[in-house]
Order: sequence, then structure tokens, then C-alpha cells
Amino acid sequence: MTTTFDMFIETEVPEDELIVSRTDFTGKITYVNETFAEISGYTPEELIGKPHNVIRHPDMPKSAFNEIWETIEKGDVWEGYVKNMRKDGGYYWVFARISTVIKDGKPVEYKSVREPMTHQKKIEMQNLYDQMRSEEEHKTRVVLYIDNDKLNNAEALEQMSKIPQAN
Ligand SMILES: Cc1cc2nc3c(=O)[nH]c(=O)nc-3n(C[C@H](O)[C@H](O)[C@H](O)COP(=O)(O)O)c2cc1C
Repeated sequence: MTTTFDMFIETEVPEDELIVSRTDFTGKITYVNETFAEISGYTPEELIGKPHNVIRHPDMPKSAFNEIWETIEKGDVWEGYVKNMRKDGGYYWVFARISTVIKDGKPVEYKSVREPMTHQKKIEMQNLYDQMRSEEEHKTRVVLYIDNDKLNNAEALEQMSKIPQAN
């Protein structure tokens, strides 16, 4: 039996395009550009009206989002790295800028504009977010290979059961 784990497939963000979305003050999506739809694997219709956490990736620590909301709610611009989850379970990394849209001197919405980041930065941020999540949520990301010959071996299963479980 062959199983494909789409969650391990990365979609690369193109160099020459920006990924744009806007939300209301509660984080519900009000607009996405074509590139956003393409990269996330959703149609614009599937995204508009949904909370922005539809593309939240489980690798992202909670505190990163707390920091985003604290920053934009006081009118500042948040800049940082985000790993997002596609509709098919795959992922993509972006450097994002999130800020308030001002019209006639009044805040009306939030917006985010995203661009690609380097491979080196992705590795650095994956390590940092793994560490943050493990400290904040006591959850550890585990990827594991098991020898086929040992798959039916009670001893191997016993060993696996000793690995700390995410819950
Ligand atoms: C303009 C804007 C853009 C956002 N973009 C993303 C994003 O690309 N990915 C993401 O996971 N959260 C994004 N968020 C944060 C989400 O609203 C949400 O806080 C986050 O996904 C965590 O979900 P939770 O608060 O339900 O835990 C954005 C928020 C705003 C206001």
C-alpha cells in the first residue's frame, strides 16, 4: 500500500507576485487576490467570509498569533514569518506584513501582504516554532521511519508507544 502525505509537500511562493488578503476586525476574510487563492489551493469564494485561521498550520505556535493581534490592534504593523496550510494539507512559508487599512483617517479593515522567504530562513523558523510550540503547548513534532520488517513486531510497537504523544 502506498500513502501520500500531502502535509509534507511544500508549495513555493513565486518571486514576482504578492499574496494579498484583507479581513474585518474579527479576522474574517473579506478579500483575497488570485495569487492567494492559487497558493492556498482554495477558490476566492471558499475563502471570503471564513475566519483567516482556515489556513492556519498546526506547526505555528499560539504566541505568534497573539503577537500579531496585539500589534495590529494598537495600530502598529506586524512583520514576520508564517507557515500556512493549503486546502490539500500541503504547506507554504511566507514573509508577511499585517497592518490596518485606513480610509478617510479611520481604521476600516486589516490587510496582509506576503512575499517569499529564503530556504535558510524557513529552516531557522521551523526550528524556532518547533521549540516555541514544545515549550508553550508541550507538543513535539515527530517524523519517524520504521523498518518494514519490524512493522508487525510487538517489540517495535512497544518502542513506538514510548515516544511522547502529541495530544
Ligand atoms: C489581515 C490578517 C491576515 C492574517 N493572515 C494569516 C495567515 O496568513 N495565516 C494564519 O494562520 N493566520 C493569519 N492571521 C491570523 C488569524 O486571524 C488567526 O489569528 C490565526 O490563524 C490563529 O488562529 P486562532 O486565533 O483561531 O488560533 C491573519 C490575521 C489578519 C488580521
